[in-house]
Amino acid sequence: MTRVIGIGNAIMDVIAPTTDAELDRLGIHKGIMQLIDRERSEYLMAARETSEQRSRLVPGGSVANTLAGIGRLGLPTGFIGRVADDDLGRAYAREMAADGTDFVNPPVTGSPLPTSRSIIHVTPDGERSMNTYLGVSAELGEGDVDPALFGKGTWLFLEGYLFDKPDGKAAFLKAAQACHAAGGQAGIALSDPFCVDRHRDDFRRLVAGQMDYVIGNIHEWQSLYQVENLDAALAQAAADCGTVICTRSGQDAILIRGAERVTAPVRRVTPVDATGAGDQFAAGLIHGLATARPLAVAGRMGCIAAAEVIGHMGARPEADVMALFKAEGLA
Ligand SMILES: Nc1ncnc2c1ncn2[C@@H]1O[C@H](COP(=O)(O)OP(=O)(O)OP(=O)(O)O)[C@@H](O)[C@H]1O
Ligand SMILES: [Mg+2]
Repeated sequence: MTRVIGIGNAIMDVIAPTTDAELDRLGIHKGIMQLIDRERSEYLMAARETSEQRSRLVPGGSVANTLAGIGRLGLPTGFIGRVADDDLGRAYAREMAADGTDFVNPPVTGSPLPTSRSIIHVTPDGERSMNTYLGVSAELGEGDVDPALFGKGTWLFLEGYLFDKPDGKAAFLKAAQACHAAGGQAGIALSDPFCVDRHRDDFRRLVAGQMDYVIGNIHEWQSLYQVENLDAALAQAAADCGTVICTRSGQDAILIRGAERVTAPVRRVTPVDATGAGDQFAAGLIHGLATARPLAVAGRMGCIAAAEVIGHMGARPEADVMALFKAEGLA
């Protein structure tokens, strides 16, 4: 069966139920994602030790969450990510494997940096305030990619977030080349408009030179080609890359492959927890593409998987998404 291999940040989510008073006491900005340094992360982790409400550990990271979704839809998955040989890292590796994703590389021993973590404070109103410390996961490099992993027809999926450093770029190129050598398809999610902005030329080279499919939201595509007009951005994208996918939150997603252009309908809802919409869209989409469904069907699968995950708390699917596909006559 077609295998999907992902490369991304391995981040342990520490789900921390808390009160508004405690957020104030800790000086946490409510409702946003903030990058923090190691010291601050250790301070916040220590505060959890004395909290009356227990925290829950859930392996996370954008591509890792996508792989979890793809795995539950039935395709074999493998994840290339870096964790340290510490409590969080060992738990991460164990739980990814328990969830059905082959965690390819063992935790790194003797790492000066600890496992990456995102401490997600959840207040009674359901708002999530994320404090993320990027540790060893962001150090991923060429040495973490074993070309032998890529069998015939493997699908590769990357996240733009890891494209921040020269080592990450080298790892992506090595993986894409190994994937193509095995006759597979390589793709990336652009992840973040600011990330694209910082590395625009390299992203453009990657998209035009190595990627068979690329997923971005409106802001990411506009940032990549530095144009205000979305159609103009997507026309350039389609000239650069085989399959171009643009998600537009509550509006229909756009998919372009050569001369074919389709939209995937989105039934707009008010999210219970918007975390993970893009990642689960990618899961449904890649499932569809890797099982050779028509482009429009793959797009609909993306929208259905995304709608499921924003209907509840948490970034991984809870319902049987394949059953949802079947109910829509897609599988
Ligand atoms: N309000 C909504 N109602 C229904 N579906 C939605 C809504 N918001 C997002 N989605 C679904 O999620 C997909 C991805 O959303 P969006 O374009 O916001 O991606 P994103 O910006 O990458 O998300 P993320 O915040 O997870 O990074 C959309 O194509 C759509 O299918
Ligand atoms: Mg996104």
